[in-house]
Amino acid sequence: MELSLLTLCYLIGSLTFIIGLKMLSHPDSARKGNLVAAVGMAVAIFGTIFLYEEEGKKLGNYEWIFGGLILGTIVGVLAARKVKMTAMPEMVSLFNGMGGACAALISFIEFDHIKDAFAKGITIEIHAGTLITIFLGLIIGSVSFAGSVIAWGKLNGKIKDFAFPGQQIFNLVLLAATLVTAGYLVFNLNAENYWLFYGIAIASLIYGVLFVLPIGGADMPVVISLLNSFTGVAAACGGFLYDNQVMLTGGILVGAAGTLLTILMCKAMNRSLTNVLIGSFGGNKFSGASASQGPQGNYKEISISDAAVCMCYANKVIIVPGYGLAVAQAQHTCHELEKLLEEKGVAVTYAIHPVAGRMPGHMNVLLAEADVSYDKLQEMEQANDEFKTTDVVLILGANDVVNPAAKTDPSSPIYGMPILEVEQAKTVIVNKRSMKPGYAGIENELFFQPKTSMLFGDAKAALQKLVTEIKAL
Ligand code: TAP
Repeated sequence: MELSLLTLCYLIGSLTFIIGLKMLSHPDSARKGNLVAAVGMAVAIFGTIFLYEEEGKKLGNYEWIFGGLILGTIVGVLAARKVKMTAMPEMVSLFNGMGGACAALISFIEFDHIKDAFAKGITIEIHAGTLITIFLGLIIGSVSFAGSVIAWGKLNGKIKDFAFPGQQIFNLVLLAATLVTAGYLVFNLNAENYWLFYGIAIASLIYGVLFVLPIGGADMPVVISLLNSFTGVAAACGGFLYDNQVMLTGGILVGAAGTLLTILMCKAMNRSLTNVLIGSFGGNKFSGASASQGPQGNYKEISISDAAVCMCYANKVIIVPGYGLAVAQAQHTCHELEKLLEEKGVAVTYAIHPVAGRMPGHMNVLLAEADVSYDKLQEMEQANDEFKTTDVVLILGANDVVNPAAKTDPSSPIYGMPILEVEQAKTVIVNKRSMKPGYAGIENELFFQPKTSMLFGDAKAALQKLVTEIKAL
């Protein structure tokens, strides 16, 4: 009876994960989707705690389980409440790493049983499938943990890109050695060689660090979604080990969603996955002269009043939001500007680059928060067709995603990445605080083109002044 109730809990959990995931695909339903999946997760967790039985015995250890639950809940709630919207990707990366670490720890615990048997001289028959799952969970979970911690450091600027000569070869050899050793142990594990398990754990952690460290700024979205999928697969291994359906379903969903996202990100960045991984192994590609030098050439500035007039008398304005808009938390003022311009008969839309901001869908979420209508958002391909017939493009805190070097400079680290081709519009107004580069750390020649004018200042302050100015016109 209890077993079937537990199975029902797992079924509810699995279904809510799928429904929640589906709801996450639209900003209107995303919040509810998150809640639906969270409720399903709670059902699965409490079902396991209270209903799971092995050989007639319940789980027990309730003080540890609830101690961990309470501590985790406090940390989670505080982190989620305190985190700034712009720091979300870092937090997600760190939490993803924790998921990887948990999956690796499951392998440690399961391997401990085997080690104990060796220590007591007990002969046990270990199924090859079990060992494969233990090693996969260990390797993938450790890589995901170490890689996510490095990604977290890179996203918050604490860790810089790093590569050493021959790193590509070193990484490949390390990965091959780790996999071969694990493969050997699957069929030859004994009391003499079991310590190699710990060597595999250390090698996987080192690989995770070395595989993410050299990856250049603009390619980070691909790596982050790849690490996400790794954590999912590692968790699915735990599901196999414990014959736990909901863990398996959850892990597979995360793994599959992460893989799809990685493919989409690769497409958005025009990179093949092998290129991102292997290409970056060779060393830091941020060697282009444009990376370190100051502003090249002359740029012109535009005043708030001129920018206001320019947009007010336009027929069509496209707003390009970027990371700076999120930093300034100017989405509400941006929406106000959009409504004001529309009242004056200007057609206003938004052009969304798939990797604008610091996380997938960052700009969609940001604008949805300000109640910007979803119909007003144009995807990159669509927007690129529209720019030709656009009077004014207003760039708000975006940089890399409008950098023409991606099309014109083969030595640029972002070369090949599709961009928003804003330079096709009649006038381009760029709002940012200075001439400093964006995430990829490179100069942007768009700022020096004759049709571009710079509107310096914090996006929120600049937009507020624009709104006041337009109201007075
Ligand atoms: P970025 O290229 O990072 O440029 C953002 C610009 O915003 C900066 O140049 C900065 O210039 C400006 N800015 C910062 N604070 C501002 C403020 N308060 N007001 C006005 N402007 C401000 O952003 P992007 O164009 O959105 O491109 C995203 C980059 O991040 C890409 O390289 C992408 O690959 C990478 N990335 C994306 C993701 C995902 S999944 N979206 C994940 C990781 C990395 P000033 O300092 O001069 O103001």
